[in-house]
Amino acid sequence: MKLTHYTIILLQVVVFTCASPALAKSPQKAAIQIILDNAYHKFKKQNPGENADYIPALAKVDPTYFGLALVTTDGKIYSAGDVSQPFSIQSISKVFTLSLAMEQNGPQVIVDKIGVNATGLAFNSVTAIEQNKARSVNPLVNAGAIAAVSLLDGKNEKAKWSGLSAWYNKFANRKLNVLEDVYQSETDTNGHNRAIAELLTSYDRFYGDVDTNLAVYTRQCSVAVTAKDLAVMASVFANNGIHPLTKKRLMSSDNVSRVLAVMTTAGLYENSGQWAYQVGLPAKSGVGGGIIAVSPGQFSVAVFSPRLDSAGNSIRAQQAIDFIAEQLNANIF
Ligand code: DON
Repeated sequence: MKLTHYTIILLQVVVFTCASPALAKSPQKAAIQIILDNAYHKFKKQNPGENADYIPALAKVDPTYFGLALVTTDGKIYSAGDVSQPFSIQSISKVFTLSLAMEQNGPQVIVDKIGVNATGLAFNSVTAIEQNKARSVNPLVNAGAIAAVSLLDGKNEKAKWSGLSAWYNKFANRKLNVLEDVYQSETDTNGHNRAIAELLTSYDRFYGDVDTNLAVYTRQCSVAVTAKDLAVMASVFANNGIHPLTKKRLMSSDNVSRVLAVMTTAGLYENSGQWAYQVGLPAKSGVGGGIIAVSPGQFSVAVFSPRLDSAGNSIRAQQAIDFIAEQLNANIF
C-alpha cells in the first residue's frame, strides 16, 4: 500500500494516542510532527534580535539556524529544521550541573549554600548579590551556577570535569564534546564571572578555588549540543528522572521537581514571570540560542535559534515553544 501524507499523519495520531494516555483525549494533540513543522514554517522567515556578542565566538554563529526537537516520555523523537547543528549549550548547562550538585549533596544544601529565589535581575548581575542580605542567588544565574560547580565532587579541575561531563553524557545518551573555540573565547573574556566568583568568596558563598571552578563552569557552558541533544537531555526531567531512551533512573523524582521549580522562577532570568504567565512551562535558556522547556509527564522540547532578546533569551525559540505548548495544550498552570 502506498502511504499518502494524510495516512502517515493519521497513523502518527493513532500510534501516539495509544502510547501516551496523557495526550490521548484530543487527536490534534497527537500530531506532533505537524505541529513542529508548522512552528518551523511559521517562524522561519522572521528572525529578530541579535546574537550574543560579549563572548566573541557566539557573535560569529550563523543567525539563520533554526532547529526544533521534541521528545515524549515514551521515548519518541520528533524534529524540524536544523536539529543536527552543534552549538554551545551555555546556561542550559546550569540545570544539569544543579541536578548533579543536588544528587551529590542533597537538595537542602542548594537552599542553604546558594538559594532558590528569583533575582528579577540579569543573569550576570552583581547587584543581585549585593542586594540580598544572605547573598543568596539561585543556581540558574551565573553567581549561583559557578557556586554550584564549587559544590561538586572532585579534588581538582580534571576530576570535577570528568564527573560532570560523564553526567551530561548520560542525559544526552551519547558522548558530548566541547567547542574549544567557544571555551577559549569565553576564557579570554570572562573577567565579569571571575569578579562574581571572587565576590561570593568574600561573602563565604563560594566553596572552592576560583580558578578551578571558573574553568569547569566555562567548559560546561562550551559543551556542544544539537537541538535534538537538548530535547533528549531535558526529557529526563519530563519523565521524572528516568531516561525515556535508556529507561535508567538518573535522578530522584524529588530533585526533578525542585529543578523544575527553579526553572519556573528563574529559567528565563528577569523574563521568567512573563514566560510563566504566557507559556506556563518550566524552561531554561542559553546565550548560545537554545531553550529547553519541560511538560512534566509528557514531553520536553528544545529549540535553537541564535538571536536573543535583551535578557539573553532566544527570541525565535521562545516564539516556537510558545506556539508548540499552546498547540499541545501543555500549560501546567
Ligand atoms: O557565563 C556566561 O555568561 C555564559 N557562559 C552563559 C550565560 C548564559 O547563557 C545566559 N543565558 N541565557
